[in-house]
Amino acid sequence: MSIWTELDQTITLWLREARESILASLEQALDIDTKSNANDLVTNVDKETEQFFVRQIKKHYPHHKIVGEEGFGDKVHDLDGIVWIIDPIDGTMNFVHQRRNFFISIGILENGIGKLGYLYDIILDELYFAYEGHGAFLNGQSIAPLEKGRVEEAIIGFNPASIPANEAAQTMIKLMKDVRGVRSYGSAAMEFAYVATGRLDAYISLGLSPWDFAGGKIILEELGGIVTDLSGNPVKILENSSILAARPGLHEQLLKNYLRAK
Ligand code: IPD
Ligand code: CA
Ligand code: CA
Repeated sequence: MSIWTELDQTITLWLREARESILASLEQALDIDTKSNANDLVTNVDKETEQFFVRQIKKHYPHHKIVGEEGFGDKVHDLDGIVWIIDPIDGTMNFVHQRRNFFISIGILENGIGKLGYLYDIILDELYFAYEGHGAFLNGQSIAPLEKGRVEEAIIGFNPASIPANEAAQTMIKLMKDVRGVRSYGSAAMEFAYVATGRLDAYISLGLSPWDFAGGKIILEELGGIVTDLSGNPVKILENSSILAARPGLHEQLLKNYLRAK
């Protein structure tokens, strides 16, 4: 068994354990705090879930490095060796207000190459997973590679609140009108999972952090999806970035006709 298959088996058990604990915590009062602004929420469950993963990784894989949103991981400056990038709850606002539509997101890289990706819809118990070069799966069922898409037939994930207050806004508004539909789910992990399974054709974000996109990028790329920043540049995994994640064909069209258009 390869180290990655073995690691996957362990992570799947940890994810299931984390899910049980998150579900149990929904039966109790949440301890809710704010971070960078009044809408940037964090709860005791975000922190406890990250602590759970960090504790397990440190115990079983002490030489691995961890980037975690809530800060319980390491100070990671480079991608040498094996690096875990963890968002313990992606979609915290949904978690607090809706009690659904939130995910655990994990990406694992070796020397900068994405190896394993996990997006876990806790309420629906849907686990999206990819192993680089071995395919992507939803609850163990293989996900079909992504076919080419076109703007006129596309449903895209986008948060309208993030439309920039500059000349680029007009192009974004035109794009919203040209596509078949726009959806805003409030969880980057969910939007990546939906592009992976064809429920969305593209996902656009003006600014995400590594833990928002690491797991999703690995899964999408395994399916032939394309993930860049909004200028078409490769995403730097340890840096905040805008994100354009899309089917092939559609990605090129979005860049050429809208995002890079003058
Ligand atoms: C947020 C969600 C949201 C995205 C934000 C992220 P969090 O993550 O993914 O969809 O628009 O930029 O910060 O804070 O719920 O983990
Ligand atoms: Ca997040
Ligand atoms: Ca989070």
